[in-house]
Amino acid sequence: SSAPIIAVDGPAASGKGTVAKALARHFGLPHLDTGLLYRAVALNLLRWGGDPDSEFAAVRACDFSQIDFDDPELRSEMTGGVASRVSVYPAVREALVQRQRDFAGQPGGAVLDGRDIGTVIAPDADAKLFVTASPEIRAERRHAELTGLGLAAHYEDVLIDIRARDERDSGRAAAPLVQAEDADLLDTSEMTIDAAVRRAIALVEARL
Ligand code: C5P
Repeated sequence: SSAPIIAVDGPAASGKGTVAKALARHFGLPHLDTGLLYRAVALNLLRWGGDPDSEFAAVRACDFSQIDFDDPELRSEMTGGVASRVSVYPAVREALVQRQRDFAGQPGGAVLDGRDIGTVIAPDADAKLFVTASPEIRAERRHAELTGLGLAAHYEDVLIDIRARDERDSGRAAAPLVQAEDADLLDTSEMTIDAAVRRAIALVEARL
């Protein structure tokens, strides 16, 4: 059979990024963190002083020429929060679709993680995981991650941000965060990273 496409979706700080990276390594596939695309749009807006409540400004910010994808600012809570605001606009999502579909269509297969990979970007993916965890546990993880990056963060603020982001991502009309019908659920709340990765590999292997 041909090289697989693996879709990994889930809410902020669920562990989907870690799981996606580990799957890519295990199966020898290239990996795209699609959240970085929305974060890049947000960072452009923040740098240009553009209004995140303007769809017109957000569409103009869909330009990656000035973005360094290793920039730690892409991973800040500020950028993530603005990303979840600009990602509600259908025109922004459309501007980013082709890049994601091209990545998914590589002859060697691919792993993509995001919110709408299994539902919109790659509905025919060979394996789909919906990775989740409780908001409190996700806030703990994101807080540790931000602190580790040297970014200032308070747990309570991170939890509030996570809940707001969940609401925006799940409540929007365009490509809301939702488990695809044919996706396997992986709740990582009570799991170590190693256990979550082992379980993810087993779930994907069963689908290939
Ligand atoms: O996953 P991450 O937290 O980096 O994503 C940032 C924001 O980008 C999310 O809150 C979500 O609103 C948006 N996003 C999206 N669709 C994707 C990936 C991310 O709407 N496939």
